[in-house]
Amino acid sequence: MKKIILDTDPGIDDAMAIFTAMAHPQIELLGLTTTFGNVSVEQATTNALSLVEMAGLDIPVAKGVGTPWVKELNPFPDFVHGVDGFGNVNLPAPKGQPIAQSAAQYIVEQVNACPGEITLVAVGPLGNLAAALQIDPSIAEKVKEVVLMGGVIAADGNVSPVAEANILSDPHAADKVMAAAWSVVIVGLDVTHQVVLNNALFAKIAKENTKVGQFMADAAQFYIDFYSSIRDIDGCYAHDVSAVAYVVDSSMFGTIEGEVCVATDGVAIGQTIMSRFGIPYPLTFWQGRPKQKACMQVDSTKLVALFEDAMTSDYWN
Ligand code: BDR
Ligand code: CA
Repeated sequence: MKKIILDTDPGIDDAMAIFTAMAHPQIELLGLTTTFGNVSVEQATTNALSLVEMAGLDIPVAKGVGTPWVKELNPFPDFVHGVDGFGNVNLPAPKGQPIAQSAAQYIVEQVNACPGEITLVAVGPLGNLAAALQIDPSIAEKVKEVVLMGGVIAADGNVSPVAEANILSDPHAADKVMAAAWSVVIVGLDVTHQVVLNNALFAKIAKENTKVGQFMADAAQFYIDFYSSIRDIDGCYAHDVSAVAYVVDSSMFGTIEGEVCVATDGVAIGQTIMSRFGIPYPLTFWQGRPKQKACMQVDSTKLVALFEDAMTSDYWN
């Protein structure tokens, strides 16, 4: 079993990742930590609690940061995820409450309790991870791995020609995460734009998963409508669930490695720039940073099957 903490801004594709992590037999989901991103941190926390409740699970939800480290807070992308973060399905308020600890405090406590065992899976802006490093820098050597959906190395960005949304939302926090002495795996747009989830799949999930399937299909419809209006695809991208898939089976991805800096201002703000050609550049930005991994190839058929299997498994009956 792989122990994970999922740091998230639910978010329609976040819900796909969270449900997959709950249902997958190789994952032990310790808890959810929330951040602003697709919605405010208050809404993200409400949404995380709703997903936990809907699944009938009893795991902690810790509320995290509500604003970026330095940059101003941008308007939330309600045209992508809806005003409620779930495609305007407007779920009833959950009964549960977040725990008293902040997301960063919870991460620090859990990592220290199980050194070498916990993978942090981050599928939103990275402020909670940066805050956890600030509270206790020693967690960098105690975390098993940091797997994040965010960034893009060689493909096109989705919020600028070079930037991906999670990284642009808090580039200063992202730069701290890339610079820390832990192993980061970037599961970014280079691979997530290769994996499309279509309506037929969500119709199957709605039919076979009586607990959360109809909700997932209804929310996904909003995401699919958005993506099919701006990109030439018949479905939506499997962004956040790709990070969970990496934890389960990294062999479905091809990776490269290099030191990573995040541009924190200017026209390239939010770009994840990896020194990947082994060239000693005259500019010193990358010097002294750890080599991190980035996914560049993916077996999309296997990834879609992993999502489908998790969402339609006996776990939900
Ligand atoms: C990422 O941004 C958010 O909109 C999604 O939830 C995903 O984490 C994709 O760029
Ligand atoms: Ca997300």
